[in-house]
Amino acid sequence: MMTTEATTDEAVADEAVAESPQVETVRYSNHVEVAEPLLTIEDLSVEFRTRTGVVKALENIHLNVYPEETVGLVGESGSGKSVLSYTIMNLLESSATITQGQIRYGQENLLSAGKPRDNRPHPAFSMIFQNPRTALNPIRPVGKQLMDVLREQGERHQLKKRAIDLLKQVRLPESRFQAYPFQLSGGMCQRVLIALALARSPRLLVADEPTTGLDVVTQETIMELLQGNTQNRMATILITHDLGLAARYCQRIVVMHAGHVVESAPTETLFRAARHPYTRKLIAATPGIITHLGQLSAIPGQLPDLRRKLPPCRYRHRCENYEAVCDTAPLVQTNLTPQHTLACWNPL
Ligand SMILES: Nc1ncnc2c1ncn2[C@@H]1O[C@H](COP(=O)(O)OP(=O)(O)OP(=O)(O)O)[C@@H](O)[C@H]1O
Ligand code: SF4
Ligand SMILES: [Mg+2]
Repeated sequence: MMTTEATTDEAVADEAVAESPQVETVRYSNHVEVAEPLLTIEDLSVEFRTRTGVVKALENIHLNVYPEETVGLVGESGSGKSVLSYTIMNLLESSATITQGQIRYGQENLLSAGKPRDNRPHPAFSMIFQNPRTALNPIRPVGKQLMDVLREQGERHQLKKRAIDLLKQVRLPESRFQAYPFQLSGGMCQRVLIALALARSPRLLVADEPTTGLDVVTQETIMELLQGNTQNRMATILITHDLGLAARYCQRIVVMHAGHVVESAPTETLFRAARHPYTRKLIAATPGIITHLGQLSAIPGQLPDLRRKLPPCRYRHRCENYEAVCDTAPLVQTNLTPQHTLACWNPL
């Protein structure tokens, strides 16, 4: 059943689009409509075996990423953003099982249920991990770490010069070549991680919370660096809690809740015409998107325990739009338009 009456959340979202300078500066382009996907994820489900039960961390995920685009992956803590990124990077731990689905790079089948995993990311993929300090080797100078990656890439000549060039590319001076991670600020460590990722000349960069814990100015610098490095028609998956950040830097946004993709759309569409109740709540709960602090609203309830038997819609217990129809069948990601997908039986 569809409703035509505007809800409070819808009004908030409309007002946000009308008044937020962030949303007005969204860089949205249509090239993604015509290109072949760089990355295709089809019907992907991932579980973890734990001593207290099986965690159904991802279920029936569909997602395409196109060359050159930046896709935002947003959702609360525990929604499955990192598990999805580790799955894409082939870095899932041994307690994880891909129970169904597949991931392709172009036409190349990377991962599918039952296929042995070797924990080696595809050479065309790079990842920036959630915590920059723990992702770096603490007892090796950062310049040497860059040289190591370049050597792995088969480069033999002028390794030190290339490493220094990469440091400069992320606006770190040559003098930092010999620095250990503990001698650098969080923002500088993050820049080193970006340099390490770019050293691989990736076609796909997965950036997991690349600016969390950084001040606003450093956050802007990091994002500008990521945006400025679209060599090789590189695409980026930007994982973030921050819908405002995604609005500024992403052409498309994918919303996850409790291991499901609940909605995905071009950024402007998502803010103007989100149909999933959770997306609307997420927009209403995002500082910077709304204009008055009084409009901020928390998302009621908590994520369900993913070890328990779950209803078809994992947002059911938190949803003001719940109706009996929501319990009748497994959710499917349907296309409202070629670029706007929704998984909900009773959308707004
Ligand atoms: N190794 C693991 N074993 C068991 N469960 C796991 C494991 N890794 C992740 N999970 C579970 O999978 C779900 C998704 O976790 P994930 O880390 O992907 O969330 P997230 O969206 O990245 O959260 P955050 O925003 O806090 O980083 C959570 O319920 C988490 O507890
Ligand atoms: S399927 Fe039903 S319970 Fe789930 S989000 Fe949609 S309206 Fe709410
Ligand atoms: Mg995470």
